[in-house]
Amino acid sequence: MALKLNDKYLKGFIRPNEIQGILPAIEAAHKTLSEKNGPGGEFLGWLDLPENYDKKEFARIKQAAEKIKSDSDVLLVIGIGGSYLGARAVIEALRSSLYNSLKKSTPDIYFVGNSISPTYLNEIVSLIEGRDFSINIISKSGTTTEPALAFRVFRGIMEKKYGEKAAAERIYATTDAKRGTLKELADKKGYESFVIADDVGGRFSVLTAVGLLPVACAGCDIDALMSGAKQALYDFKVADITKNDCYKYAAYRTILSRKGRKIEMLAAYENSFTMMTEWYKQLYGESEGKDGKGLFPAAATFSTDLHSLGQFIQDGSNIIFETVINIKSPQKDFFLSDDPENGDGLNFLSNQNMSIVNEKAFLGTVLAHTDGGTPNIILEVPELSEQELGYMIYFFEKACAISGYMLGVNPFDQPGVESYKRNMFALLGKPGYETEKASLEAKING
Ligand code: PA5
Repeated sequence: MALKLNDKYLKGFIRPNEIQGILPAIEAAHKTLSEKNGPGGEFLGWLDLPENYDKKEFARIKQAAEKIKSDSDVLLVIGIGGSYLGARAVIEALRSSLYNSLKKSTPDIYFVGNSISPTYLNEIVSLIEGRDFSINIISKSGTTTEPALAFRVFRGIMEKKYGEKAAAERIYATTDAKRGTLKELADKKGYESFVIADDVGGRFSVLTAVGLLPVACAGCDIDALMSGAKQALYDFKVADITKNDCYKYAAYRTILSRKGRKIEMLAAYENSFTMMTEWYKQLYGESEGKDGKGLFPAAATFSTDLHSLGQFIQDGSNIIFETVINIKSPQKDFFLSDDPENGDGLNFLSNQNMSIVNEKAFLGTVLAHTDGGTPNIILEVPELSEQELGYMIYFFEKACAISGYMLGVNPFDQPGVESYKRNMFALLGKPGYETEKASLEAKING
């Protein structure tokens, strides 16, 4: 069993001739991706990764995870964007959104360097006080301000606590193989290092050491994660959309977008999936949103957000379609027992599992939203296991690449992310940005 696309609730929103009409574009995108000769073709390392990953490094990741689990109460994972979201998404989906509050034999994991909030930084500093900790600093470029600053802070605390030599044995650097400030620092200080290959961009890197080391530290089975991704690699090789749900998804979202549905809302009826929706937002937002084009990736956790966004989805402007992850079995169900007094009038829900209530919420909502004019693509997922998650990650990555090529953009660059970074460097007075600084300050003060 693996992820399956259910298009039952698209009836009336997409006509058969529209599907026929998009097939040449799917075939062209498939050819470009397979032949690796499209824009960004030098960033396709993720495509064969589930088969061609570095097995020696994979074994080192597992060893490092064992060491961290044995000598640390806390693991600080420092990174932002593609160097942050995937690891957190997988850990929360597999273990729990309340992972750090669980009774467990694995370390607490705090993600830092993904914002510039002094409050958050102070909170983490006090949370590690008196506890043994390790650091996994993750940055492909090795120069991104947010993680670099957080690393300076926690490296300082660590060196003070353990001394420089012992601290170096608790720091794991995931970065470029040859370049960057972090690589230089790791070599100089002797940190154990893991590589983010040149041909794998940040948002496509969750199945490299970027995601795998933190995920392994949380006690998750990274072999099964890779095995699920490998299964997806085989399943989504053919161009024929009747045999390839990944391409079918890319086709449907493209058709809906061309019909004015400019917002895709990824939703799941599972709290622990929330960070996966954040990962999806980055993957699709940075890949498609350029050259004045692209679907806006939004996300929701149901039924929570049915009480906030539900009104708009049901009844607001016709600019949204939903892609709903329907997780068939929860990790652990909750039995609702009977209350003879029935003072709350809820006995109609007695003696059944909570997952049944969730399933009815899903069905009721799909019917209501489609009646209200919002198309729904359903992705049926048997469960949130390592195997299924690996499969799903590859599904979304490949669908993203195919969608991007159909849209006519380079899905593998992110020129827009650089603009704010340059402005911030200039305003902070980083050497080399003097001209920009003057012109930005003139705009601010003008
Ligand atoms: O997907 C991307 O390329 C970005 O989101 C990066 O991952 C993010 O900007 C962090 O970059 P780096 O890993 O170089 O610190």
